[in-house]
Amino acid sequence: MIKIFNLNDVISIKDFQKKDIEFILKEAENLEKVARSEETSEELAGKILGMMFFEPSTRTKLSFETAMKRLGGDCVGFVGSSVSSVSKGETLADTSKMFESYSDAIVIRHSLEGTAKFITDVVDVPVINAGDGAGQHPTQTLLDLYTIQRNFDKIKGLNVALIGDLKYGRTVHSLAQALGMFDAQMSFVSPNELKMPKEILHDLKKDNVKFYETNKIKDIIDEVDVLYVTRIQKERFPDEEEYKKIKGAYLIDHDLIKGKDLIVMHPLPRIDEIANDVDNTKYNKYFKQAFYGVPVRMAILKNIIRNKI
Ligand code: CP
Repeated sequence: MIKIFNLNDVISIKDFQKKDIEFILKEAENLEKVARSEETSEELAGKILGMMFFEPSTRTKLSFETAMKRLGGDCVGFVGSSVSSVSKGETLADTSKMFESYSDAIVIRHSLEGTAKFITDVVDVPVINAGDGAGQHPTQTLLDLYTIQRNFDKIKGLNVALIGDLKYGRTVHSLAQALGMFDAQMSFVSPNELKMPKEILHDLKKDNVKFYETNKIKDIIDEVDVLYVTRIQKERFPDEEEYKKIKGAYLIDHDLIKGKDLIVMHPLPRIDEIANDVDNTKYNKYFKQAFYGVPVRMAILKNIIRNKI
């Protein structure tokens, strides 16, 4: 069988070439009817997805489960180490070996950067990074790109502003790297304390990707096609007092965007950065974005599990 999608694991968006991303986005579009339950599929019948969620999740966990079940497969796993034998002192390596015995692929979310990569050295089944600390969240990036592509029919040349916690927000780290591959123009809007990490800016500069940094939304609001808003990541601040000084730094409300030609995205959960008065407007794409997690993760699961067969 000729492999079109060559990745064995999904750890970082940097592991993807542009053609791999385009392939997944196309596959996701083909799978949308199954994701919406308008068609059925048994492509992963008999296959089991292992879910190791050491941090809380609503969208990532549920959309992976839905994706697997819509393709005829099933899931096992846990959320929170207190309900697994990790709470008795079992190592991450041993826990991963158990998941390897019980499942055909593993999805892992952990607070430590590099955890997903670490377990690829321990197990022989595909590993998917569902968020490693402030590191990467590659499947979120794929669904973010899918949302942009579905809305504008292109990504190239669009002006995308990433707003909020660019230091600790893993979704914006992966997304900035991917948007660079697609020749999008980027603005990074954050408080000075939460700027995009230097390593990511360095990578973008090395690839000749242009970006603009500011701490004021008003500097970019008239130029952007996409406002990608993020939550301030309270749980990653070493000192809660520092979080309290910055929380509520930005608010996107209907008054700010009315009359403008843009869409509002957010990986969710939101806390106080998008007002409820945006929800019932044409600007709101964040709920649709969360749904797109299903066809995109179906595309990933189908191809990554098939690559092991
Ligand atoms: N976007 C996202 O990762 O959401 P969850 O934390 O609910 O999975």
